[in-house]
Amino acid sequence: MKVLVIGSGAREHAIAWKLRQSPQVSELYVAPGNAGTAQIAQNLPIPASHIEALADAAQSRGIDLVVVGPEAPLAAGIVDHFQSRGIAIFGPTQAAARIEASKVFAKEIMDKYGIPCAKGVVFSSYPQARSHIKAQLTPIVVKADGLAAGKGVMVAHTREEALEALANIMEKRVFGPAGDWVIVEECLMGREASLLAFTDGHIVVPMVPARDYKRLGDNDEGPNTGGMGSYSPPSFIDASIVDNVKKTIFEPTIRALAQEAHPYKGVLYAGLMITAEGPKVLEFNCRFGDPETQVILPRLKTDLVDVLLAVLNGTLDKVSIQWSEEACVGAVMASQGYPGSYATGSPITGFDCLDENIIVFHAGTKSLVKDDGQMEVVTDGGRVLTVVALGKTLAEAHNRVYLNVPCLRFEGSYYRHDIAADEIVG
Ligand code: AMP
Ligand code: GLY
Repeated sequence: MKVLVIGSGAREHAIAWKLRQSPQVSELYVAPGNAGTAQIAQNLPIPASHIEALADAAQSRGIDLVVVGPEAPLAAGIVDHFQSRGIAIFGPTQAAARIEASKVFAKEIMDKYGIPCAKGVVFSSYPQARSHIKAQLTPIVVKADGLAAGKGVMVAHTREEALEALANIMEKRVFGPAGDWVIVEECLMGREASLLAFTDGHIVVPMVPARDYKRLGDNDEGPNTGGMGSYSPPSFIDASIVDNVKKTIFEPTIRALAQEAHPYKGVLYAGLMITAEGPKVLEFNCRFGDPETQVILPRLKTDLVDVLLAVLNGTLDKVSIQWSEEACVGAVMASQGYPGSYATGSPITGFDCLDENIIVFHAGTKSLVKDDGQMEVVTDGGRVLTVVALGKTLAEAHNRVYLNVPCLRFEGSYYRHDIAADEIVG
């Protein structure tokens, strides 16, 4: 099979890495990819937003299966476009992808079908949202409706903070039309985890659970980022919680979307708060998580192609998806200044000094040919690498990662030191 992965992050490198292990894959392409994907696949220099150009490339190369990493092309209708041209593509349609692209749409589905989530109210009027917030206790959460690169949610500890977030979204319109609507909702308390599931529109098969670290600094300090690390499995998500989420969240959501004439196929990602009343949805994503995928796919024992095809063919009940018992930890190495502005073009060294059991998934990297004709890998983004290790325990995986991270060097490299640390006792 000829397979094309769309995207350029460490998530897409992890997907491509897993696909490369499949004996069914003869040719593997990544668009646009990075220096890491170039080592295992052929990069096509087409941005993930150029849907027609991607479809042209897929058609001219006779691609049998396309896998989409990021949400933006899904929300823009890449699946609908590829399907209309007869190209097999893994992911939800534009209408179904609204489960991530519109928090108001997701909230309406959850409220209508009784799916556990925070209690909240939706507004399109700035004055009405303002008076509502003024009448609420804090903490309180203010969310922009649309895609806002992970920045559209404010967990406000004071009313002033909440009002400022609201003004930024609705009055200053810092997220543009993503702020036409807002949700003001209760602040849920508990521990957070990510549970992703494969679904063919009927059957839902949860993956192993993971936890993502969104804040930039150790001990969850500093600004929100696209994710500074992750691990799997979190000890506080046992099999009974996974089963509970499957029955009370995933299955009713998939049934609801079908009922609303937006059948959903692909990966459904639930960001969860495990509250005293049980798991509740913080957010849905319409795709694999980043950096969760980097610690989930190394635990997948089954051929990923079989799983993806079963999703497309509606035969997910026919594959038995097996996971390794091993734990997995991934630390993101970022460029100094991220998530604000940062420099690019710094050479990255040390790949040849890593222990054999280390997997490095690239994100913002590219290969350059030096004056002497040798290739070198340089930084090309804010999130640069995810350094991953499996281990018999989370402690073992954590130690392997942090023993190796210092070997990888580039100017201004930055990483968190505490990924999975609070899981390690003694
Ligand atoms: P989201 O982009 O929707 O995942 O939200 C970003 C982060 O905001 C989540 O990972 C949570 O930490 C936090 N968050 C979102 N909604 C709530 C809520 N209702 N209560 C508490 N925290 C929340
Ligand atoms: N890890 C959060 C996300 O993928 O959206």
